[in-house]
Amino acid sequence: MMICKTQKVTLSDMILCLSRVMEWISPTIACHQMRTAYIAHNIARELGLSLELQSQLALAGMLHDIGAFSLKERKYIANYDIDPELIEIHAELGYQLLKNFRPFATVATLIRHHHYRWEHGRQTMVKGESDSPFSQIIHLAGMIDASICNGREILGQVPEICAAIRRDAGSVFVPEYVEAFTRLAQREYFWFNLDSTFINDSVNDSLSFFNVELDICDMVDLSKVFSHLIDFQCHFTASHSSGVAGAAEALAGLYSFSESGCQRMKVAGYLHDIGKLTIPAKILNKQGKLTEEEFNIIKKHPFWTYRALNNIRGLEEVNSWASFHHERIDSRGYPFRYKGTELPLGSRIIAVADVFTALTEDRPYRKGMRFNELREVLQEMVANNSLDGGVVAMLFNNYQSVDASKTKEQAYSARLFSDFYDSTKLKDWCRPPCSVIPRYSAHVEG
Ligand SMILES: [Fe+2]
Ligand SMILES: [Fe+2]
Ligand SMILES: [Fe+2]
Repeated sequence: MMICKTQKVTLSDMILCLSRVMEWISPTIACHQMRTAYIAHNIARELGLSLELQSQLALAGMLHDIGAFSLKERKYIANYDIDPELIEIHAELGYQLLKNFRPFATVATLIRHHHYRWEHGRQTMVKGESDSPFSQIIHLAGMIDASICNGREILGQVPEICAAIRRDAGSVFVPEYVEAFTRLAQREYFWFNLDSTFINDSVNDSLSFFNVELDICDMVDLSKVFSHLIDFQCHFTASHSSGVAGAAEALAGLYSFSESGCQRMKVAGYLHDIGKLTIPAKILNKQGKLTEEEFNIIKKHPFWTYRALNNIRGLEEVNSWASFHHERIDSRGYPFRYKGTELPLGSRIIAVADVFTALTEDRPYRKGMRFNELREVLQEMVANNSLDGGVVAMLFNNYQSVDASKTKEQAYSARLFSDFYDSTKLKDWCRPPCSVIPRYSAHVEG
């Protein structure tokens, strides 16, 4: 039996990884989220709320616009504070993305309602469910940050910011929260901590409640949330990472990985393309052959995956499995150009699971390949030293069980994707008739 390392990963390391990735996608929104987290945490502390709630509010602030990162072509990022319909959609999407991960249940609800006006208490019930008044702290914190003019000296702005916020007490904001903010606003350090030099440290300190170890089930569930952020950009790839996760888990089992090792392979499958979040949508979605420059940009994605996962303690082995998925046996792969003997079995499995999943998925320009064609292509890739021959043989000797594991995972994500869009007004607005992956002749991808 293959023994895999079982050092536990902390939830706070995973959260910081997510925050880093969001910063790569849009530094402006990421900075707004960090500052909102800091302000919300301080208001909660000033109000004497529990340490747990303080941390929940900090995390909700840090992720409150996460729905903005999951839309087609990320249009929302440019428009999120302009279009009222988009405001509602991004809050709902954020909720839908996070609600299925148990430790984020409270945070998801806080995010769902983070743009509701207080309306003198009339908004306490929303859509038949109890609206936590604490989501109003996120609303207030976000608006305080939005009213800061970044080009100007901060302390000189405090009187006008306070006056504007106080004017809306009762109509837009909860008066008690405005009073807590007004007290905080008198302290210079509160404003100095918002400086980009210190904001990350200020927020990290407030996440202590999440400095807990994740068991392997939570690790799998959280990685699945990350994978939806990557894959839900387009319905053609809505279940890609899930398919890779399912196939990799089954192959690991056939190689006698331990139960925990199989689950960690699944995590690697969910996370292998996280670096794709940094690739511009117009390149990811391009139909037809990529230019050399575009392909050079695509080549970055496993490196960004490596960087995203590199600071998560306990995830080193999973990182190597995930980030080397475009390396090839004869070292023609990218970006590290390792050769077969340098590649761990886990990364050779992910590479096969990735190509297997990509080729069996429908694309706008072709249907997913069936068994015979697939076997021909994969055998050709073995012959030209791209993929590991042993792993490909393992796949075809056990095709039904590996395919069933892949399909089961994909079905779950496809259903979730459908609910995700149907539950919002997104159906007409951004359901994407797109192709995400360049043609096979240009780039065998996943
Ligand atoms: Fe928002
Ligand atoms: Fe992939
Ligand atoms: Fe990839």
